[in-house]
Amino acid sequence: MGQSYKRVTTNVLQEMKIKHEKISMLTAYDFTLAKIVDNAGIDVILVGDSASNVMAGYETTLPITLENMIYHASSVVRAAKRSLVVVDLPFGTYQGDSRKALRSSIKIMKESGAHAVKLEGGSEIIESVERILTAGIPVMGHLGLTPQSIYKFGTYTVRAKEEAEAEKLIEDAKLLEKSGCFSIVLEKIPANLAKKVAESVNIPIIGIGAGADVDGQVLVLHDMLGMTHEFNPRFLRRYLNLFEDATEAIKKYSEDIKSGSFPSKEEEY
Ligand code: KIV
Repeated sequence: MGQSYKRVTTNVLQEMKIKHEKISMLTAYDFTLAKIVDNAGIDVILVGDSASNVMAGYETTLPITLENMIYHASSVVRAAKRSLVVVDLPFGTYQGDSRKALRSSIKIMKESGAHAVKLEGGSEIIESVERILTAGIPVMGHLGLTPQSIYKFGTYTVRAKEEAEAEKLIEDAKLLEKSGCFSIVLEKIPANLAKKVAESVNIPIIGIGAGADVDGQVLVLHDMLGMTHEFNPRFLRRYLNLFEDATEAIKKYSEDIKSGSFPSKEEEY
């Protein structure tokens, strides 16, 4: 890619669903990698709260703050010329208080220049979703495995395998659509349930560990590039092994310094 392209908008994503064109989405958290993602033609960049894990090294997504997210999002926005940039509202900035949710979303949009926000949950957070939408801020939903609720679930295993949870998930997806969400992420649920959801709503469904019969796919950039190497869920396809390759390159650099072969005469002034 690398040419100039028209910005992907929420309307473009809607048209893609209608035309059965798959939507590509990846996370990014910094300027340099976001530039690569945008240049490669990815439709949506998610500034995920997974930054808490892959950028800050926390075990969960709970500690990351609104200010942290704005810092990451503004770096990504400066790089993204074509992709739609969606930012996660971090834990504690929208649950149980729709006015706070609106304030958090406005702060993200104003200070980062991003194009939309994403919230985890269904009926429990619907008031927040509705209030954010009144300000004209596009909202993406997130159902299934919602990592901000990890201490409620107790594990990161597949969600909605039981009938009751699956039914609630379908109802939540319909509710999010009715409220005006432009898209929903479905994380780690059975593929047949994800297919059912994608067929039950008219907005694009983006899956992560939700099978192929949805409208698009998302992965965490650091996972698909193999920068992380201890996280190995079944749904993850690694396209590079950067952890190993970067380790080799850095070892070689260190050896070259210690042996005196770096810098060479050609590399000095
Ligand atoms: O934070 C994140 O990276 C996400 C994706 C896993 C969808 O929410």
